[in-house]
Amino acid sequence: MQFDVLTLFPEIFSGYLGQSVLRLAIDRRLVDVRLHNIRDWSHDKHRTVDDRPFGGGPGMVLRPEPVVESVEAVQTKGQRPGHLVVLTPGGRQLDQRVVEELSAKERLVLVCGRYEGFDQRIIDLLEPDEISIGDYILGGGEVAAMVVIDAVARLIPGVLGDEESHRQDSFSQPDGLLEYAQYTRPRTFRGLEVPPVLLTGNHQEIARWREAQSLERTRQRREDLLDQG
Ligand code: ADE
Repeated sequence: MQFDVLTLFPEIFSGYLGQSVLRLAIDRRLVDVRLHNIRDWSHDKHRTVDDRPFGGGPGMVLRPEPVVESVEAVQTKGQRPGHLVVLTPGGRQLDQRVVEELSAKERLVLVCGRYEGFDQRIIDLLEPDEISIGDYILGGGEVAAMVVIDAVARLIPGVLGDEESHRQDSFSQPDGLLEYAQYTRPRTFRGLEVPPVLLTGNHQEIARWREAQSLERTRQRREDLLDQG
């Protein structure tokens, strides 16, 4: 799967993409991430990409020319334009269902904003899928884009070592419940014991205990998930 990221700060991504699961996925060519600097499409020698808002108000707004032209240039490069996503706190909220929807695309083009926002004509012309990662304001869309890449990439077949492991995660289970508590060695740590049922080797009992755990946790922490059916 190909991800194209349009950003004013491509350097932000290298550390994260260079580690762990994503690094392995990139090395194994299951994931291809291409970074593009929106500033390369600015129209002046100062490489300006933003300007003051018409009508006044605080902060700066991303100008339409460099953003629209960079998206068009990136989308026409390659065989398919891909699915265009703009990261913005005003978008539809990312959840595992949206992640699954995005993971079915062959190519995602992710546009990261900075400053106070995008000139509305960028949205009107490009009609992107506007996505928010939650009800809080980040300094820019870069961290949000990394969240999307991370969550989507781990659904790509072969990216996770153990094919089963994402199906067991919270929100990806058929019942949409939180994950049960996990334990590893040692059996006793600072006086806290591993629940004895997990040591019995009785898989049916263990499965039943985990199911009950999931349900209880979800009831305590995220009752809203139980209502979603
Ligand atoms: N840019 C700034 N805040 C954001 C958020 N919560 N989600 C996505 N993009 C953002």
